[in-house]
Amino acid sequence: MQVLEMSQVIVRNSQEIDQIRQACRVAADVLEHMAKELRVGITTHELDQFARHRMEKLGAESACLNYRSGSKVFPCYTCISVNEEVVHGVASLRRTIHPGDVVSLDVVVRFNGYIGDNARTIIVDPVSDEAAFLVQSTREALYHGITFAKVGNRVGQISNAIQNFIESRDLSIVRNFVGHGVGKDMHEEPQIPNFGRKSDGPKLKDGVTLAIEPMVNLGGHEVDILPDGWTAVTRDRKLSAHFEHTILVTHRGPEILTICKN
Ligand code: MF3
Ligand code: CO
Repeated sequence: MQVLEMSQVIVRNSQEIDQIRQACRVAADVLEHMAKELRVGITTHELDQFARHRMEKLGAESACLNYRSGSKVFPCYTCISVNEEVVHGVASLRRTIHPGDVVSLDVVVRFNGYIGDNARTIIVDPVSDEAAFLVQSTREALYHGITFAKVGNRVGQISNAIQNFIESRDLSIVRNFVGHGVGKDMHEEPQIPNFGRKSDGPKLKDGVTLAIEPMVNLGGHEVDILPDGWTAVTRDRKLSAHFEHTILVTHRGPEILTICKN
């Protein structure tokens, strides 16, 4: 999501958690199946339509389609961001996947009125060393950040852990987009930057659901928006990667909800 001023956590009751859990399983299933479809020669439009049909089969809707930001309306079922595209890539009939492409798939579904949000970056063979380093580091940064999603910790502890992890590897963290609370709407309080101080943000409580989503660039952190009004690209046009899970904060520790069980 884009950066807004938000700072409270929302505690969900057990019925809401159950619904969010189901939505997250659907979101993870769609992402998993979409990832298996990814191959050289497929268009991003075909991938997006594949995800659309999987959502329909599972009785879910895309939360991205017709999503509004200001006067803009998102035109696709999923976000597919290739190479220098960071997030919110718009699928196209003319965009074909090529060998070595670094493809970020972002799936957000609404199921029985609740949201599940997850994303993953996949490298199409042949895998270059720099792409592998970027993608593996982004994935590890997400899992490292998740370990700080504990009752009593501040959101800033997640943010700070992700930033330190990525910057220690000489990669850069995108600042224009952040993670977010998630539940009934795709973007709820609090925002979860992937950078900042440990003392920033609200304290986490049992029953809080969060989408944590580091976006990491091989070059500089700056991004531009393409004329389509959505696609964010790295300003230096170097590679970018993105991983995201929806998680539940509990007294037993963080629980990742966007795990595919099918
Ligand atoms: N995971 C992305 C986010 O939280 C999904 C955005 S969907 C779009 O911002 F509709 F905004 F494109
Ligand atoms: Co998100």
